Amino acid sequence: MSRIPNLILIGFMGTGKSSVGRKCAAVLGFPYHDTDLWIARRARMSIPQIFETEGERLFRAREREAILQVSRRSAIVVSTGGGAVLDPENAARLRETGVVVLLTATAESILERTSHTGHRPLLKAEDPHARIVQLLREREAAYCDAAHASVDTTGRTADDVAVEVIAIYRQAAE
Ligand code: S3P
Repeated sequence: MSRIPNLILIGFMGTGKSSVGRKCAAVLGFPYHDTDLWIARRARMSIPQIFETEGERLFRAREREAILQVSRRSAIVVSTGGGAVLDPENAARLRETGVVVLLTATAESILERTSHTGHRPLLKAEDPHARIVQLLREREAAYCDAAHASVDTTGRTADDVAVEVIAIYRQAAE
């Protein structure tokens, strides 16, 4: 059975996965899925509440389930949480079902984009910039291994990034 590949966005918090994902879905005419929204809806709790009451380990179990669900679909756009592909099984599943595009940005740009919202438990640190730099360093290899292609989003609008991501998707999906 021929299957239309999914378009999957991965990358660190604040790299624009959700806004770019929505735009790509609108242009491609694909349904849009956000694994964090899926998890929050299913748990009837926000992501910070899940971290607070259940802890990160159970959040990751919920995330694995979300990845499994989206990987059963085809012709959808998926934005994943920033830690999703740190689990090699999640990464392998996503790669099998679609084109995985990594969105990147500098630590400064990530800090700027995430500092206005309080919904990222992992960035609640005394020095959020140092925390971002540390996590980026720890995660870099996993992000690169999981991705088919990457797009730098620093200083760019979501529309501009979406155009590049769609071009990558179309070429890979041909
Ligand atoms: C996380 C990223 C968040 C969310 C959770 C953990 C991470 O998603 O899944 O707070 O480990 O990087 P966004 O990347 O959409 O902010």
